[in-house]
Amino acid sequence: MQRNQVTVRAIIAITIDGKIADVRGTWRPLCKFELARYNEMLEWADTVIVGARTVAHSNLSFLPKRLKKGFTRIVLDGRLSLKPGYKVFNVENADTVLFTSSNYASIESVAGFEKLGVRVIVLREYPIKASSILSWILRELRASNILIVGGGRTIWTFLSENALHELRVTITPFILGSGQQLLAVDGLSFPGKNLRLEQIGLCACGQEVVLTYRIPPLL
Ligand SMILES: NC(=O)c1ccc[n+]([C@@H]2O[C@H](COP(=O)([O-])OP(=O)(O)OC[C@H]3O[C@@H](n4cnc5c(N)ncnc54)[C@H](OP(=O)(O)O)[C@@H]3O)[C@@H](O)[C@H]2O)c1
Repeated sequence: MQRNQVTVRAIIAITIDGKIADVRGTWRPLCKFELARYNEMLEWADTVIVGARTVAHSNLSFLPKRLKKGFTRIVLDGRLSLKPGYKVFNVENADTVLFTSSNYASIESVAGFEKLGVRVIVLREYPIKASSILSWILRELRASNILIVGGGRTIWTFLSENALHELRVTITPFILGSGQQLLAVDGLSFPGKNLRLEQIGLCACGQEVVLTYRIPPLL
């Protein structure tokens, strides 16, 4: 992994009971300071990566307020289940690149996105590897600050391959009970992946805690 060239950060907010969305998949920041932190992160990034389910549930554009030249959004949709109508596929102000798998994506559905000006990268693998995405980014974009805005499956794609340098988790003062877990993926054997706590921040609202973890590189 080209660790010296790029920084890959992921941000996510969870409830006290570790949920990133309710059972219907709904989540939005309720604290204005968390929203400001999210926007700050978008300003920091030159490339944003987002998973298909986050696109479907939020229908956000994932654009910062001040747009940098070359700012690019990357959507991961292995089975190409999204339709082209989502805001992230409006390429008027910034490019969007869609990563999908030839195991599932039909020529017709790929063409539907390409017609909008979305660049579609069809890989012969499923699931798509973080290393494939990062190699493509390093080859095709002048990216140095890559931000993963969720959801859990997409973060796991990078975390599991040790392709994530920083994970920032905001603990919000809510409990959802059943809902979507941060990482609804096959678990690891104990003790799992060990992250290094770098910073603990208390939100200006006095109710949220922002934890920043570094991920130690592979030996
Ligand atoms: N609390 C927060 O801060 C926060 C932030 C963002 C999102 N959310 C919530 O989180 C939920 C979505 O999270 P999620 O974990 O379910 O989904 P996600 O990561 O947003 O998207 C998962 C989808 O992206 C595709 N994908 C991701 N990694 C892939 C890979 N390696 N290879 C191929 N395809 C890949 C998959 O498509 P295929 O199924 O086709 O393989 C998968 O279904 C939503 O409910 C959203 O509201 C919460």
